[in-house]
Amino acid sequence: MATTISVLSQKGGTGKTTMVRTLTDVFERLGLDILAVDADPQGNLSDYFDTEPDAQPTLAEVLTAQTRAADAIHGAVIPANLRLAEAELALAGRIGREVTLRNALRDLKREKDLILIDCPPTLGLLTVNALVASDHALLSTQSQYFSLQGVEQAMEVVDLARESLNPDLELLGVVLNIANMRTRHARQTLDSLRERFGEKVFRSVIRQSIAYAESAERAIPILDYRPDRGQDYLSLAGEILRRLGSPELLEPLDRLSVEIVPAGARA
Ligand SMILES: Nc1ncnc2c1ncn2[C@@H]1O[C@H](COP(=O)(O)OP(=O)(O)OP(=O)(O)O)[C@@H](O)[C@H]1O
Ligand SMILES: [Mg+2]
Repeated sequence: MATTISVLSQKGGTGKTTMVRTLTDVFERLGLDILAVDADPQGNLSDYFDTEPDAQPTLAEVLTAQTRAADAIHGAVIPANLRLAEAELALAGRIGREVTLRNALRDLKREKDLILIDCPPTLGLLTVNALVASDHALLSTQSQYFSLQGVEQAMEVVDLARESLNPDLELLGVVLNIANMRTRHARQTLDSLRERFGEKVFRSVIRQSIAYAESAERAIPILDYRPDRGQDYLSLAGEILRRLGSPELLEPLDRLSVEIVPAGARA
């Protein structure tokens, strides 16, 4: 039975898609059977996975009941493109519009170990569908345009999904992403996040590096492109495994880290 995690944020460009792509890679390397779901009409996650631009069917066809989710998997991802925006509109007028994705993923949830959903930068119907289909919400926030209010807004949407349709939904935690920890601003951001959200804030911070954009452009996971950078995600993955109650995977994770992160770059 898969654990399902939605990665979301209150605004665009906080590194959500990179997080879904990289965590998929890390957990696959630990031997887990992972499904990544691109729930953003921009289709960035599909690009990061190097999916053919005209791959068919996509999440749009899944949500409009034209195909089964299992038949829309390409490699490890159910891709998306602009037609997902049309599907979202079509969905809006239907009864059960918020539970469509949950129902569509039901069979795969039984088969997979982990499902990661990449949310769009808006807190609309697609994000609500993702949250209703999830056991956990993982919040990404960037220090550069940080606002506590923004993080709180995203949490309110998580609360709403829990109170209305998904009582089991839990906040897995908040990650400070794309952070330049050499700046005082980023360190202050982390302090105020911890002050406000306490233990919910992950100790691991994903540091800012141009290597992410370069690796995305080449559709190569960061662990292959720049393993020294990838260690931030290995450390985040470790915290996630602890929070999910899967400590048996921590040792394989340590081995992976020793294997791929250059000794000099290890934390
Ligand atoms: N740790 C990082 N350091 C520097 N750049 C990063 C980092 N992570 C991601 N990026 C880059 O920042 C940009 C936005 O990242 P990404 O697409 O993952 O964000 P997003 O939150 O999914 O955006 P959107 O809200 O548009 O879906 C991309 O160019 C990506 O390569
Ligand atoms: Mg994205």
